[in-house]
Amino acid sequence: MAEFTLPANSKVRKGKTHAAATGGKNIRKFHVYRWDQDSGENPRTDTYEVDLDDCGPMVLDALIKIKDEVDATLTFRRSCREGVCGSCAMNIDGTNSLACTSFIDEVKGDVKINPLPHMPVIKDLVPDLTNAYAQYTSSQPWLKSESAPPPDKERLQSPEERAKLDGLWECVLCFCCSTSCPSYWWNGDRYLGPATLLQSYRWLADSRDEHTGERLDALEDPFRLYRCHTIMNCTNTCPKHLNPGKAIGEIKKMMVERR
Ligand code: SF4
Ligand code: SF4
Ligand code: FES
Repeated sequence: MAEFTLPANSKVRKGKTHAAATGGKNIRKFHVYRWDQDSGENPRTDTYEVDLDDCGPMVLDALIKIKDEVDATLTFRRSCREGVCGSCAMNIDGTNSLACTSFIDEVKGDVKINPLPHMPVIKDLVPDLTNAYAQYTSSQPWLKSESAPPPDKERLQSPEERAKLDGLWECVLCFCCSTSCPSYWWNGDRYLGPATLLQSYRWLADSRDEHTGERLDALEDPFRLYRCHTIMNCTNTCPKHLNPGKAIGEIKKMMVERR
């Protein structure tokens, strides 16, 4: 049987340990993926001991404390620190999530932190999202209409039409779902993945949009949409408790209904 091994320069090695200052009684270890392309070295896992009595409750609080007080070279994205910008997405204890809404106390034992899986890494916990954003852009995520808007007011929706967007507009484009999807791991160059498909459905479901047919045409492809095999990792991992798997199912239903 064929055996596969990682190239030598991609093996993750054990890195440095940064001990907590003495005296802390509530010490937790954080094992954090580190990689700096410019160093020419292999990726490594550094261990940081953090006194939780002197730290905020979230995983992001611990990362910020480490960066501020222990190791300024640690690199990660963050902005809002309240689950709305989507930038602090990473793999925490084996699950893709937002560091700012993940309680340290909900992780049992040491906290293992890695970048979002199966994405090229720029540095440490920062994945390269160029392809994911290009796919999102390709979905033309804006209202497309032919008819002129009413002269004196915005385009209106009924409460029922507006309700169809609930569970879709809340997406923060963190890509936790796409990077947990096995189909996206293997075909991310051609399969759009659950984040972009949920966003596609957000516009397909919008009563004001007049380009439904054209949007469906763009998805009618063996890869872009139909690589979803309903494994549902995406829905299980979404930190905003959305259901991209269901949104993809709704697009497939629209495809059948228009035939
Ligand atoms: S339901 Fe589809 S998009 Fe979601 S994880 Fe499974 S294959 Fe990927
Ligand atoms: S559906 Fe959820 S996991 Fe996927 S990008 Fe949106 S917020 Fe993130
Ligand atoms: S920092 Fe914005 S979602 Fe976490």
